[in-house]
Amino acid sequence: MSKEKALAYAAERRDEQLAALIDFLRIPSISTQPERAEDVRKAADWLAAHMREAGIENVEVIPTGRHPLVYGDWLKAGDGAPTVLVYGHYDVQPPDPLELWNSPPFEPVVKDDFIYARGAADDKGQVHIHVKVAEAFLGSVGEMPCNVKYIFEGEEESGGESLSQYVAENQEKLAADVVLVSDSHILSPEQPSLVYGLRGNVYYQMNITGPDHDLHSGSYGGVVDNPLNVVGHLIAKLKDENGKVLIPGFYDKVREISDEERALLAVKPYGEETLLAETGAPAAWGEPEFTLNERIGARPTLDVHGIIGGYTGRGGKTVLPSTVHIKLSMRLVPDQDPAEIQAAFKAYIEEIMPPTMTYEIIGERGAPAVVVDLSIPAVEAAKTAYGTVFGREPIFVRGGGSIPVVSDFKQHLGLETILMGFGLPDDRIHSPNERFYLGNYYKGIETVIHFLDELGEG
Ligand code: BES
Ligand code: MN
Ligand code: MN
Repeated sequence: MSKEKALAYAAERRDEQLAALIDFLRIPSISTQPERAEDVRKAADWLAAHMREAGIENVEVIPTGRHPLVYGDWLKAGDGAPTVLVYGHYDVQPPDPLELWNSPPFEPVVKDDFIYARGAADDKGQVHIHVKVAEAFLGSVGEMPCNVKYIFEGEEESGGESLSQYVAENQEKLAADVVLVSDSHILSPEQPSLVYGLRGNVYYQMNITGPDHDLHSGSYGGVVDNPLNVVGHLIAKLKDENGKVLIPGFYDKVREISDEERALLAVKPYGEETLLAETGAPAAWGEPEFTLNERIGARPTLDVHGIIGGYTGRGGKTVLPSTVHIKLSMRLVPDQDPAEIQAAFKAYIEEIMPPTMTYEIIGERGAPAVVVDLSIPAVEAAKTAYGTVFGREPIFVRGGGSIPVVSDFKQHLGLETILMGFGLPDDRIHSPNERFYLGNYYKGIETVIHFLDELGEG
């Protein structure tokens, strides 16, 4: 059986796999920072070279309006075999705040079975799993059990617009039976989980301006409005202290959680104690009438991510700042429509913004939530693969994060997505000291080998 050879091939090469991953993680492919565009391209080239070396064919780095896509395929399993479209992203979040890292974010460190670096878990380590699986099959038996197409993007952390467009325009090229994505986490090293839902999102930056230059707060405080004070009022009008979003119409299309769904969501053992241990927060928070799993997986929310404005240096400075920038996003659930939410948000801001301010809203593309159809054969294959490698069947969970392109795969290619992740809840993705558990990296390679084998046999 080809699976055994591939598993043995992979198991014998752990040191090389890790060395290559370290190399990949050294490239600061931060997609949100324009000055890093060259590094993002370097990561694309690195990935393409390693895909070719693994034996993947037709590898190309595809330029886009922003960051390149990397495509490759291996299509020699024959017409009868299923085709899997593997997706991942090689871009990473900014590493800031740098001073909170125990080692530099782009100088990977291996310690106690974890590799520490920006992008270790999200998502370079998990992308690398797929390259190593291809190498294991092609380097040992010379073939894979399925036809496999690979599409990797360098823009996921900044909205994924280029890939969204590419998917819409290249339906034939990307045609497949199912999508496979490793960009999420399992519950623990002992308990795998299969993510069957993701929240959607819309993201904004608002620039709010009062006076056309900074003013002395003694000369003008009390007669000219201050954009920082205004931001406080605006935020309070966007969301109440129990987590209810106050934008009119925001909940209109939110699908009620059915009894069946409620039961499925309750399977994941997740209580306040775990939440507090994971986050270090002093108390849990959110809509009291919903459980933690429901709040994360099936309820929408709104959060402010950053406010830039005013004086933040040492000592005091009595100033009325001219302009404030605020970054915020909303997480969406079925059946909220990103375009409708965007319109409702803008109309509400227009209504609550005082006449003392001028403002602009800069928005990235939004994406709807997704829920995976659990009746497809690939779900069975994923269950078997996780079960074989981890010794326990996966629990089904709904993730709170977003992977915008997953909805495009559904919309333009008609495909369901298997979210077969290998991270852990405390990987600190998007945060200082991001890490990836190496046990899961190696088990990830094994699990994907089993998955492709199961699917190919089916
Ligand atoms: N891998 C995450 C999404 C994720 C996180 C899925 C946790 C499941 C569990 C992804 O890289 C991500 O961070 N996406 C962004 C998208 C946004 C920038 C458009 C997100 O969710 O904030
Ligand atoms: Mn990711
Ligand atoms: Mn991310």
